[in-house]
Amino acid sequence: MPSTPLFSNKTKTSVVIATSVFLLCWAAAPVKGHVGVWAPGMYCGKGNQEGVDDNNSNTISQPMHNLTRSDWWFHHHDSCDQFPPPVGEFLEIPSGGELTVELAVNRAFTTRSAHPELGEFTNGKNQMGPDGISDEGCIWEPNIHTKSELEAAGTAFAISYVDSLSRVTPENLVVFSVLYHTPWRRLATYSVPKLPKCPTGGCICAWGWVPNGCGTDDFYMQGFRCQVTDPVKSAKVMVAKAKPPVWCEDDLTKCAKGSKQLLYWGQQDGNNVAVEGQDLDGNAKRPGYNFKMGFAPGAQNDIFVGSVL
Ligand SMILES: *[C@@H]1O[C@H](CO)[C@@H](O)[C@H](O)[C@H]1NC(C)=O
Ligand SMILES: *[C@@H]1O[C@H](CO)[C@@H](O)[C@H](O)[C@H]1NC(C)=O
Repeated sequence: MPSTPLFSNKTKTSVVIATSVFLLCWAAAPVKGHVGVWAPGMYCGKGNQEGVDDNNSNTISQPMHNLTRSDWWFHHHDSCDQFPPPVGEFLEIPSGGELTVELAVNRAFTTRSAHPELGEFTNGKNQMGPDGISDEGCIWEPNIHTKSELEAAGTAFAISYVDSLSRVTPENLVVFSVLYHTPWRRLATYSVPKLPKCPTGGCICAWGWVPNGCGTDDFYMQGFRCQVTDPVKSAKVMVAKAKPPVWCEDDLTKCAKGSKQLLYWGQQDGNNVAVEGQDLDGNAKRPGYNFKMGFAPGAQNDIFVGSVL
């Protein structure tokens, strides 16, 4: 029996045309991912293709799920850890000041692109929705995993006083600033505590985000080469060894005090936090950079060994 063709020739042609139109549109419009930081000193800032300066990259904005420790650590799974910033380019962390970066779903929506489309929000636009909102009220255009600014889980910056990514460990990578209710707008300003000087070759910094619902168990960690500008003079001030954060919404005495690690969660291994059950609002617990995990907003002034004054 001759096999029946799946499509008539006419259908085939329209499928080919539809596919081509789709591919053309796809090539022209910036591909939207989730949210990442776009700033000087970033790894993967031009994408992850050798020799390509991709003005339209969203690789670093992609979440990571269920990966092995070696794969999720600084985005190794998509080689982002192999694409450092240009030599001499650092994210400057102003000691005792403010650090402003751009949060976006694609490089194209930040000043880091040669041909930017800039808006108030992370998708190059001045408004969110009304189309990109799910029945549950979750905003997915842009994909920021929240229903509102108030419910946005929070993001954080951390610093490690080592000059190479290979020497960073969870214990020496210390959260120094937390910004509640982000990601939301493109521009985000983090308050910085007074920090000690980096080694001659600079420090390694990282940004983290764990959304609170509105999608899969997303997890974000991205790397930067960074420098502390106007550091504290005293050579005796050092950041303390970081401890894993602890869920403490229901009992503040359980919170990890002082220097804390980034949140490592939802992966096959290397997680430093486990939660189960529901939070006080009756939603599934998700660790985040907020009071529920013992993170105070703003500059983390309690992360030091020795006095910063
Ligand atoms: C991105 O823009 C810059 C500046 O216009 C250009 O040099 C570079 O080739 C562009 N990248 C691509 C892949 O087109
Ligand atoms: C995580 O990955 C492992 C191995 O690939 C797989 O067996 C497991 O089902 C995955 N778990 C989830 C929750 O996706």
